[in-house]
Amino acid sequence: MKRIGMLTSGGDCQALNAAMRGVVKTLLNSGEKMEIYGFIDGYRGLIYGDYRMLTGKDFSGILTVGGTILGTSRTPFKLIREPDENGIDKVEAMKKNYKKLKLDCLVILGGNGTHKTANLLRTEGLNVITLPKTIDNDLWGTDMTFGFQSAVDIATNAIDCIHTTAASHGRVFIVEVMGHKVGWLTLNAGMAGGADIILLPEIPYDINKVVNAIETRHKNGSRFTIIAVAEGAISKEDAKLSKKEYKEKLRTRKYPSVSYEVAAQIQEKCGREVRVTVPGHVQRGGSPCPYDRVFASRLGSEAGSLIMEEKYGFMVGYVNREIVRVPLEDVAGKLKSVDPDAAIVKEAKRLGICFGD
Ligand code: F6P
Repeated sequence: MKRIGMLTSGGDCQALNAAMRGVVKTLLNSGEKMEIYGFIDGYRGLIYGDYRMLTGKDFSGILTVGGTILGTSRTPFKLIREPDENGIDKVEAMKKNYKKLKLDCLVILGGNGTHKTANLLRTEGLNVITLPKTIDNDLWGTDMTFGFQSAVDIATNAIDCIHTTAASHGRVFIVEVMGHKVGWLTLNAGMAGGADIILLPEIPYDINKVVNAIETRHKNGSRFTIIAVAEGAISKEDAKLSKKEYKEKLRTRKYPSVSYEVAAQIQEKCGREVRVTVPGHVQRGGSPCPYDRVFASRLGSEAGSLIMEEKYGFMVGYVNREIVRVPLEDVAGKLKSVDPDAAIVKEAKRLGICFGD
């Protein structure tokens, strides 16, 4: 008999349900008897003892459903050691609820911040297994996170749709892609959508190079230019600022996001008509793509095996096309960014894509 706590934390993404279903189906099919405690809205549920008893039935029919049946919320790691507004010690409260319910382990699905807290709980003596979710694909220790491929599909579709209207009007179009501080989503969706210019946080851009690339395209007979801009893209000048100075710049800048700043600069420098499209949270929504359904199911299956073997303290990851068990302490607190010298960036440049560097 296993008593399992489960929670999804941080921003949602596609295939969270598919991954949880993978864990539960694996355990059910092994003949293992179990009690599943689903904590509501991430760590918040574990802190305040807000949970729902779940059975196999709750995981039926959710393979294709986006979002999370448990709900989620952001519980910032930097505040986890600070008491809440009523003086409750959050870490102690989580430990207390874990012990009160006599859990054998916690299955935690999340991204970067979630993994820091998961690792903290491990060091506090709880049995933890994690699964890597995020559309940003920025989690260390895994080549891929689930949610990423679904978001690539959506962002690519946005660029595809923009293509025809950009061509009709002969405009410059910017599509702003999510990804927080990293450029995986923009790089992949940009290449898949045939973007002419791709701006990533990892490769600070020079606006003059961007304008040159647009002008060169026009000289060569192209009526339009598509630019995929990561929400975290940064100019060469801004990259020189200290963290504090940059934060202040973001706080006071007159544009809602980097794309609008780039658009204004292009318009000013070459007088071309520029339009900005921000798909935003659409990229996190809807049904998981077939790749993510399979991928999340595989990760969930491995997590189920870990539980049966009573091996804890691992994130189930994907390295060199294999499902692997990665020690949580190797994952927590590290960001996986795009290497500006990576083969994919070099290949993209050989295809003629400008990165503004
Ligand atoms: O981490 C996933 C993500 O969608 C990022 O790409 C984005 O920067 C952030 O979450 C948005 O967060 P929120 O949903 O809290 O606005």
